Amino acid sequence: MAILVFDSGIGGLGVVTALNGLAPGLALTYLADNGFFPYGEKPDDILLPHILRVIGQAIEREKPEAVVIACNTASTIALGALRAAYPLPFIGCVPPIKPAAAASRSRSIGVLATKATVRRPYLNGLVEKFAPDCTVLTLGTPDLAELAEQKFRGAAVDVSAAVAPLFTQPGGEQIDAVALGCTHYSFLLEEFLALRPDISWHDPAMPVAKQTLKIIEPLGLSPAPRTARFTGAAIAPALLSPFGLQPAVNPA
Ligand code: DGL
Repeated sequence: MAILVFDSGIGGLGVVTALNGLAPGLALTYLADNGFFPYGEKPDDILLPHILRVIGQAIEREKPEAVVIACNTASTIALGALRAAYPLPFIGCVPPIKPAAAASRSRSIGVLATKATVRRPYLNGLVEKFAPDCTVLTLGTPDLAELAEQKFRGAAVDVSAAVAPLFTQPGGEQIDAVALGCTHYSFLLEEFLALRPDISWHDPAMPVAKQTLKIIEPLGLSPAPRTARFTGAAIAPALLSPFGLQPAVNPA
């Protein structure tokens, strides 16, 4: 039993960290479509066929028993089509509106995500279901996923300019909880907290990992192999080893 964990870059490694905590050594292949990063700035009609092709090839090659789409942007755009195309369990990501709404006292919450994710109508559905009494303000930003990639590779990053428009829009000063609707942002939690320690920031990684285990545990878990593949430049092995991953011998 092995699973495929997919993202446009390093974002899904936050989900891998959460999975490692819950089911250490779980057999998985991590696939980063970093040759096409960033997804958040690309139109849906380009992204959808591209994602279907890349994941379709990975399914052919890896023969996983379940696929985690550890990317909000890809989940919103492609999850329905993937489920229709393959008889496999697909676990997607949704912005953590529910925990953000539960934590908010002011009943004003923020959603930070890629532009592609905030323009999807499904966000309205989540708000209606989980935060009907909240004012929900969104910011689709092109910058944070890139900053997360840079930080992952050792750069010091400043998130203040990218985050500011969420709080300076009308009503933004009331926000006291933020749902991070992009898996890359798990890697910027420290920066968000340093910037606004008064706000509760909600990471999407753990809910996805928990949902994944709920779905795959009945299939039986097996340890190793654990490899990472890239459609662009490979991440250095030293940066992958803390996640219990090694670069695949043959590139994607
Ligand atoms: N990690 C992806 C997400 O969760 C997005 C990053 C990108 O723009 O490619 O939405």
